[in-house]
Amino acid sequence: MTDEHCPKMFPTTQLEEADGDGHNSSANATMGEIISRRFSRRNFLQGSLAVSAIAATVSPLALMTAEKARAAGGSAFSFTEVEAGVDANHHVAEGYDADVLLRWGDPLFADAPEFDPTNQTAEAQARQFGYNNDYVGFIPLDGAADHGLLVVNHEYTNPHLMFPGLVTLVDGKVEQGPLSKDQVDVEMAAHGGTIVEIRRVDGKWQVVRDGANNRRITVNTEMQITGPAAGHDRLKTAADATGTQVIGTLNNCAGGVTPWGTYIMAEENFHGYFMGDLPADHAEAANYERYGVPDGSYEWGRFYDRFDLAKEPNEPNRFGWVVEVDVMDPTSTPKKRTALGRTKHEGAESIVAKNGKVVFYLGDDERFDYVYKFVTDGTYNADDRAANMDLLDAGTLYVAKFEEDGSMEWLPLVHGQGPLTEENGFASQADVLIETRRAGDVLGATKMDRPEDVQPNGVNGKVYVMLTNNTKRKPDQVNAANPRAENAFGHIIEISEAEGDFAATSGTWEVLLKCGDPSVAEVGATFSTETTKNGWFGMPDNCAVDSAGRLWVSTDGNSNKATGRTDGLWAVDTEGDARATSKLFFRVPVGAEMCGPLFTPDDETAFVAVQHPADGGEDWDGHGRPSYYEDLSTRWPDFKDDMPVRPSVVAITKVGGGKIAV
Ligand code: FEO
Ligand code: CA
Ligand code: CA
Repeated sequence: MTDEHCPKMFPTTQLEEADGDGHNSSANATMGEIISRRFSRRNFLQGSLAVSAIAATVSPLALMTAEKARAAGGSAFSFTEVEAGVDANHHVAEGYDADVLLRWGDPLFADAPEFDPTNQTAEAQARQFGYNNDYVGFIPLDGAADHGLLVVNHEYTNPHLMFPGLVTLVDGKVEQGPLSKDQVDVEMAAHGGTIVEIRRVDGKWQVVRDGANNRRITVNTEMQITGPAAGHDRLKTAADATGTQVIGTLNNCAGGVTPWGTYIMAEENFHGYFMGDLPADHAEAANYERYGVPDGSYEWGRFYDRFDLAKEPNEPNRFGWVVEVDVMDPTSTPKKRTALGRTKHEGAESIVAKNGKVVFYLGDDERFDYVYKFVTDGTYNADDRAANMDLLDAGTLYVAKFEEDGSMEWLPLVHGQGPLTEENGFASQADVLIETRRAGDVLGATKMDRPEDVQPNGVNGKVYVMLTNNTKRKPDQVNAANPRAENAFGHIIEISEAEGDFAATSGTWEVLLKCGDPSVAEVGATFSTETTKNGWFGMPDNCAVDSAGRLWVSTDGNSNKATGRTDGLWAVDTEGDARATSKLFFRVPVGAEMCGPLFTPDDETAFVAVQHPADGGEDWDGHGRPSYYEDLSTRWPDFKDDMPVRPSVVAITKVGGGKIAV
């Protein structure tokens, strides 16, 4: 569904559509197509009003306080939900403010230039907030909940939305011209991450432009490769004979903040940045095929040898890692931690287990790929930050096998154990990590429906796995953990680790929620009957757990005619009779994806990241033309004719103060 809607003419838009293996070449209509046809017979407004099989009003339970409702077995959320729909702006539940805090191009330093879209330079961009904000983390300063460092990933760039004069319409069809070197340089500076000090004053968040730790990380930031694969021959290039120094990080999707306050940037769709052909019979050919390298969505290889396989055949092995950044030292060298494996990492959320070891949960976002976790060898020292700084270099990486009976196993990816041997092409632990996916293959891990965020919940001891969708799964490929063929709307799995121990190597699991419109029988969605027509969603992508242990889910891919709703942030009950009840709290403008939900430690602010607004969505108001710089489907958030659409981070607070949800 997402696939059919996204305009295929813009290469970087295609990149987000994780294609993966298991290509279904049959001509059968997918479930997404069936649903799309159903909705296309009427406009989206009629579509959203015509739902009858589920409650159309807010449940009476929602009018009680959440605590009373919970005691009565009802929802833990008492806010009045937003009406689902599609328009040019964002919308938040009544009684809340949603203030734009950081926009693409906002200056981050006292001496940084103001954003000028008609005069973009790499130098300016490297001092300004980057493009397509995704993961958002908050690291308190001095233990404060109203003063800290906001860390934000900038996953990718959409040149057709960023640069004037790049797109022309020829006979109603889009033609995107090649990028200049200057534009490529801007793209590279717009990737990476932002670390910026923020402070809440009189209830409103402000950027501290002269914050001592403010920093931009880009595709040109020098990084160190650490852990078991560091220095391996397969990581050596003409520019780096040591296999330990790499320039840049890219496609940083979700991430994490460690218990010791470092910033994790996960490298996701790295394949899109490489072009050119490997030399004939090159040893990495099978490895690269498993990761879809090269994909050629970006033009960087025209100007920089490291993105051209013909010139630097080993470079792709230096991407696809988890990057750790010490935010308290703006001159620190970020580290690519190879012990956590090389995949299309969605994120890396962590929790301290009972035995003091730190457990990181990792999704590999591609159709039919796997869920992982990493358990450190060492233990977390709450009294000595420095003692934790290399915990990520030693530990055990596991891949998940979900059994049909509701049990599960975490299978270790350890060289020499089981089939991970030289005769299977793994000569060392470095090989196991460089080819993490193949190691998972030979271990018999469970092929999942695009694993995105995986979030441990320290309050109820569970782990939540967002599985976005997989329209390529055929009926004979269904399994208990991926129960729908042609899964257009995704699902959420809830894991219970054995004995509540996050470091356990086994556990049980169940499906919390099959997503999609519950009024359409063919979809097979399992939202509770208390869920209103606004409350259902498809394509769960990222999520957050507030300090009361409640689950909030953000989505990627609802923004089209087929669902009559944009992406957004939904509050999802996990406990008691209200389990699987969902309510819409915030929705994004047309064309956007909802990323980065994050609650401050006092639960008084929810930060959300509005990614790629106006990327598509041309149908919503009869606009009827592709959306690009000169003819955008929305100019959010400035709504000025001379200002392009700008991906931005939004701070949501309660009017008059207090916790977001009580
Ligand atoms: Fe970048 Fe998996 O979303
Ligand atoms: Ca994501
Ligand atoms: Ca996504």
